[in-house]
Amino acid sequence: MRQPWKNDMNWSDVTPKAAWLNRRQLIAGGAAAVAAGPAWAKLDYKTSALSTDETPNTLEEITTYNNYYEFGTRKSDPAANAHTLKTDPWSVEIAGLVDKPGTYDLAELMTGLPLEERIYRFRCVEAWSMVIPWIGFELGKLLEKVGTQPGAKFLRMETVVRPEEMVGQRSRILDWPYVEGLRLDEAMHPLTIMATGLYGEELPNQNGAPIRLVVPWKYGFKSIKSVVKIELVAEQPVNTWQAINAREYGFYSNVNPEVDHPRWSQASERRIGGGLFAKRIDTQMFNGYGDQVASLYDGMDLTKNY
Ligand code: MTE
Repeated sequence: MRQPWKNDMNWSDVTPKAAWLNRRQLIAGGAAAVAAGPAWAKLDYKTSALSTDETPNTLEEITTYNNYYEFGTRKSDPAANAHTLKTDPWSVEIAGLVDKPGTYDLAELMTGLPLEERIYRFRCVEAWSMVIPWIGFELGKLLEKVGTQPGAKFLRMETVVRPEEMVGQRSRILDWPYVEGLRLDEAMHPLTIMATGLYGEELPNQNGAPIRLVVPWKYGFKSIKSVVKIELVAEQPVNTWQAINAREYGFYSNVNPEVDHPRWSQASERRIGGGLFAKRIDTQMFNGYGDQVASLYDGMDLTKNY
């Protein structure tokens, strides 16, 4: 797999840092993994065949142009403000229609779930896009681990609420906590990951540390950050943006160039980093992941289920 940003690096360059930065996974992997030393980092995550071979955006672009309203509404706010969030220790509550409910420490949650590098296109509902080299594990594998019960049809996730550490939560810009949802088959799809890193390192706070959802065929707002609760439910949950304006933001939020946002076109996008005069690129159905995911929506009217 092509890794254009690593052209001038080899494994011995990246290993010590990766080994340090993936300490949570080292903990999850146990003492044997630690004893394996630098070689472990090579095994730590694999580049996935599900990656795009498009050139990723730079780390600078990915970490300075963010939407994370818990830290402010401007694109530069999260990079300036998110350092105040304490992401270690971190635990995630697994609740609802599951066999093994409970509050899991992050390392415990990740135990036995292989990390992969997934280079995905990321399309924001605001008609900009990036290519991001995430590190994460498949959400489906986590759901298998905790065991979903037959009545579970949807998933509902929540972001942490800590106004003392998240300056944006001190005002009512949104109704906290930020909430997102998926249909169970969407959550089980192999493209759907929980990201814990990017560019070979742990997630920066502004990108949703220590753990956030990534669903590459959906608009970026589905990719909820700093997740503390995953609940398996029977009924379709209401997500934050839908609650604010259901006419503009639906539950499905699949990238679809044929269904415009009521206030702007979704037919094309601006790739961040391309410069002011860069040509806009055509947005692809399901953000280019149609071959893998279109069948999830067979028979559905996507103009109604937007
Ligand atoms: N998650 C939380 N908790 N709060 C937010 O404001 N913004 C969403 C999504 N997840 C948001 C969130 C939106 S609109 C987008 S486009 C992506 O995060 C941005 O992710 P990025 O900053 O890593 O590119």
